[in-house]
Amino acid sequence: MTPRTTADTAPVRVVTSTGHGTLSQGDAVAFLRTLPDAAARLVVTSPWFTGPYRASSADPTSPGFVTWLDPFLTEIARVLRPDGSLVMELGCTWAKDAPVRTVQNFAAVNSLLGQGDWHLLQEFYWYNPDSLQTREEWRTHHRVRLDDCVSMWFWLSRTPDVPVDARQVRGFQNHLTRPFGNFLTMGDSPADGSCPDEIPGEPSPVLADRFPVALPEYFIRLLTREGELVVDPFAGTGSTALAAEATGRTWACNDVSDEATGIAERRIDALRR
Ligand SMILES: C[S@@+](CC[C@H](N)C(=O)[O-])C[C@H]1O[C@@H](n2cnc3c(N)ncnc32)[C@H](O)[C@@H]1O
Repeated sequence: MTPRTTADTAPVRVVTSTGHGTLSQGDAVAFLRTLPDAAARLVVTSPWFTGPYRASSADPTSPGFVTWLDPFLTEIARVLRPDGSLVMELGCTWAKDAPVRTVQNFAAVNSLLGQGDWHLLQEFYWYNPDSLQTREEWRTHHRVRLDDCVSMWFWLSRTPDVPVDARQVRGFQNHLTRPFGNFLTMGDSPADGSCPDEIPGEPSPVLADRFPVALPEYFIRLLTREGELVVDPFAGTGSTALAAEATGRTWACNDVSDEATGIAERRIDALRR
């Protein structure tokens, strides 16, 4: 992902609203501070995988990334209900200087669990062979490792006893996946179908980061009920907003990028038409 400015001093701007939710543009900490305590049932998000740090082979746990992520996680903990869930993709990444893995994703989860307030309820493996940027290691660099095709999603909560309704995701995955399994292969969501897939012109890097609407929809169905609040502070092109809107949840989504929120706005408008 290309570095983006964190505009933490800029005010959060409302981009668009529906009857169910609001899309904002601003730094994720500033956005989260606009939300009340213990309001959200689910935060489902995919933060900038490395933050402003691309780890080297000498420093594969990327402590800078863990420090960068920490204020966002503090605010997420505040806005979540005590029995709410945080479902977070932190990528899988390669060191910038050698064909070795970095483990900033595990380091961040380790740090969170080490604070004593959080539990890792389960991890999910999303089969995503097409758009993982970590494929670049194979495609353009050393060609001495195998192609990345899964990305990990961590399901965390402050209590082991979160409300879960696994019946809501029965049959939601395609035939490759056993019902209730944690290996996710996603087809299209109906909300994908009603949205313009791409905007005209050059392919954009923010579109490459996008996850399918079906992915947040899976966790929304599993972990929330209609009317409950779903939050995505790093919402990119708005897939979480679309999933929440289509399933009748309330939502609050945000991204710092002009381009991403512009695309998200168009996708939300198209869904409403
Ligand atoms: C992995 S992408 C998310 C993609 C998104 N899930 C989608 O489907 O389009 C990470 C996002 O984090 C955003 N971001 C990076 N730093 C941020 C910050 N400080 N506050 C809010 N968003 C930020 C980037 O602009 C990017 O869109």
